[in-house]
Amino acid sequence: MANVIIVGTQWGDEGKGKLVDLMTEFAHVIVRFQGGSNAGHTVVVGDRKFIFHQLPSGILRDNKLCIIGSGVVLDPATLLEEIDEVKGKGFLANDDALLISEEAQIVFPYHKRIDVARERRKGAHKIGTTGRGIGPAYEDKISRMGIRLIDLTDEEVFRDKLERNLEEKNFCLTHQLQDEGFSYQELFDQYRAYGERLGRYAANTSLAINHEIEKGKDVLFEGAQGTLLDVDHGTYPYVTSSNTVAASACVSAGVGIRKIERIIGVTKAYTTRVGSGPFPTELSDATGDHLRASGGEFGATTGRPRRCGWFDAVVVRHAARLNGLTDLALTKLDVLGGLEKLRICTAYKYRGNTITEYPASLPVQEGCEPVYEELSGWEEDISLVKDMGDLPPNAQRYVRLIEQLVGVEICMISLGDERSQTMMLKNPFHRLH
Ligand code: GDP
Ligand code: IMO
Ligand code: MG
Repeated sequence: MANVIIVGTQWGDEGKGKLVDLMTEFAHVIVRFQGGSNAGHTVVVGDRKFIFHQLPSGILRDNKLCIIGSGVVLDPATLLEEIDEVKGKGFLANDDALLISEEAQIVFPYHKRIDVARERRKGAHKIGTTGRGIGPAYEDKISRMGIRLIDLTDEEVFRDKLERNLEEKNFCLTHQLQDEGFSYQELFDQYRAYGERLGRYAANTSLAINHEIEKGKDVLFEGAQGTLLDVDHGTYPYVTSSNTVAASACVSAGVGIRKIERIIGVTKAYTTRVGSGPFPTELSDATGDHLRASGGEFGATTGRPRRCGWFDAVVVRHAARLNGLTDLALTKLDVLGGLEKLRICTAYKYRGNTITEYPASLPVQEGCEPVYEELSGWEEDISLVKDMGDLPPNAQRYVRLIEQLVGVEICMISLGDERSQTMMLKNPFHRLH
């Protein structure tokens, strides 16, 4: 048995999609466990590029079972688009290869409109959300107003729930947010049609996953966003509205925590962030622009330029503890080539004091000055290197320093967006057999 969780350790976009697609080779079941269409997970296979928002990134491999857990907030319109797209490209030939939790919450257009209207009203204090309705959809779940996939498939239940929800949402939109409301019948018809199409995938996914585990099958859990966007442990309030840490995988999948063997933290060799909020190692200079250009750092979901900065070991150490990481997968090391000097943040200075753990207070986070260790860079193109020993000595030193500062072993180094551009140092699945 080898059940492995993959999570992001920074502010998202660490390369989880690439890693999940790669590791799917060794798993039988792939479970996407939280977030929604705010995520954008890129998988490159040969000259084809896919961006998954809600489908598990394992969907391109044959004979795998892909599952969307109850912790995901499901946007039916974009999910159906994704399903049609992969089918059009010859994948997901067998519909039985995809199961969606009947308990997954559904995102409605009123969630998106509320999300966007609130951001507009916040002005300079906006979170910089993706505008996908994520916050409002999770709010409905927690306030017990939410409409789940199972509800969409039952006309009477759905009618009643939508009526009650729309009454409240239209009031909120028109009276509080000075926006427009929605017509009941239009939404009802549209979402009943989604329910008809998605109903064939709806299942008790906890039962399905546990059955597979009992049969000795290996499960890979795919996180979205990153640890610093976790609603409890991230840079609150500049976070997403779900728990992005590994523990969330068990909740969403309906799997006992004792079933998990390894937890891989995907870590970019530098740092990026989309949207507002503290970012101690941000580079608002030519080096930041260089990282953005060479790393192609533009949002996979919204196309926004990502903020770029040096690697922050305080952040990733925070993530190592919160997730209980057993392994690190280091991505985009190739992007650092050509920089004469590289910096790694080892601690912060705040009002003359040294801070080594990520602080909870927003003003403190904003006032932290990074303490850097400087290393020499390398000129060589490393994107096709296959062995650690063949990396330039300065690149090896950079990797080893990250490993030492974070205190977690690096199991994989990614040197390009393609599957083959990966150095597998230790396969987390193989170790277990
Ligand atoms: P995710 O949200 O964590 O799945 O990451 P994204 O897909 O949003 O962003 C990662 C981007 O980096 C994508 O465009 C990937 O194709 C690309 N990528 C992943 N790993 C590497 C790598 O090692 N090197 C380079 N140059 N690009 C990579
Ligand atoms: P993946 O899975 C990077 C950010 C948004 C915003 C904050 C809240 O591709 O790594 P939301 O729409 O969730 O309410 O926005 O979270 N954000 C992400 N940033 N990668 C993501 O996903 C993100 N999903 C949300 O930019 O700052
Ligand atoms: Mg992304």
